Amino acid sequence: MQEKLNKLKDQAIRELSLVKNIKQLDDVAQKYFGRKGGDLNNILKGLKDLDPEARKEIGSLANEIKEELEAAVEAIRQTLNAKEVESKLESDWLDVTLPVDTNLGHLHPISIVQYELEDLFKGLGFKILDGPELESDYYNFEALNIPKHHPARDMQDTFYVDNSKNTDKWVMRAHTSNVQVRAMKEFGPPLRAVVPGRVFRCESTDASHDTTFDQLEGFMIDEDISIANLIAVMKVMLSAIFKRDVKVRLRPGYFPFVEPGFELDMQCLICGGKGCSVCKQVGWLEIMGCGMIHPNVLKAGGIDPEKYSGFAFGLGLTRFVMMRYGIEDIRHLNSGDLRFLKQF
Ligand code: PHE
Repeated sequence: MQEKLNKLKDQAIRELSLVKNIKQLDDVAQKYFGRKGGDLNNILKGLKDLDPEARKEIGSLANEIKEELEAAVEAIRQTLNAKEVESKLESDWLDVTLPVDTNLGHLHPISIVQYELEDLFKGLGFKILDGPELESDYYNFEALNIPKHHPARDMQDTFYVDNSKNTDKWVMRAHTSNVQVRAMKEFGPPLRAVVPGRVFRCESTDASHDTTFDQLEGFMIDEDISIANLIAVMKVMLSAIFKRDVKVRLRPGYFPFVEPGFELDMQCLICGGKGCSVCKQVGWLEIMGCGMIHPNVLKAGGIDPEKYSGFAFGLGLTRFVMMRYGIEDIRHLNSGDLRFLKQF
């Protein structure tokens, strides 16, 4: 028995000396000390069948050998771990002297102007709100005093999406005005807010029309709000954004959700009013619809039109950007063309 134990020890030491990595070490340890079928463990288990004298002798030798081997395994484990860290350090290195890639991304021109406008309106006490791009027929049209089958829907022909659960269709919002009644319901009066965002129309595309573009809606509701407040806010905004004197004109305009309603045009900054493809040769560009919020819209938002009034405007953010940077074709903006984008 003693001889058998000593042989086992020698054999274990020989095997341990050949171990090259932690996995092999674990395998050898398992072979000798494994709970199930480990050679040394089996001998220790068999001790109970020996007579007391032999059990004592063999038992202490077996334990001695076990401790000795376990200590060897631990020592080898530490050496292997240290070696592994070392070789990792050798293979995972980084050359900190390589030149840095300075080709960083940057904001899209629409975002640049949008954030500028947001800052400006924040300074005037307006909230910045967001709204869904896939909208119910109700908030996009009906709540804005545009009933079903009303011819005014043609002005904003958009994309309808079948809604199998409901007879009411979804639409890709045709304007950011969809947030007007949502905001009135959520915050109540008095309310000042702007809503930048993407809108969709069924358009044939050309230099100044695209199926996807950006608007910035704004509204201010309180007691005694009048057209004078609307004009004052528009003037502050335009001079801040274009940083120069911009000629504007106000024409009567029809939108079912404002009364009276206007179109605000600015002189084309691309051609200076002479006429070009962007302004369709007229020298003026329609940049926003605006007006006093219709009483029916205030009512839909749960606001008493006898007590409160408000103005609203929907600014063509995309047009603004084109004027600001002298971009002659709207289709560049969503093209993803790096030759275009890198200029900003
Ligand atoms: N929603 C209108 C459009 O997209 C613009 C508008 C907004 C007009 C608010 C009046 C008041 O054309």
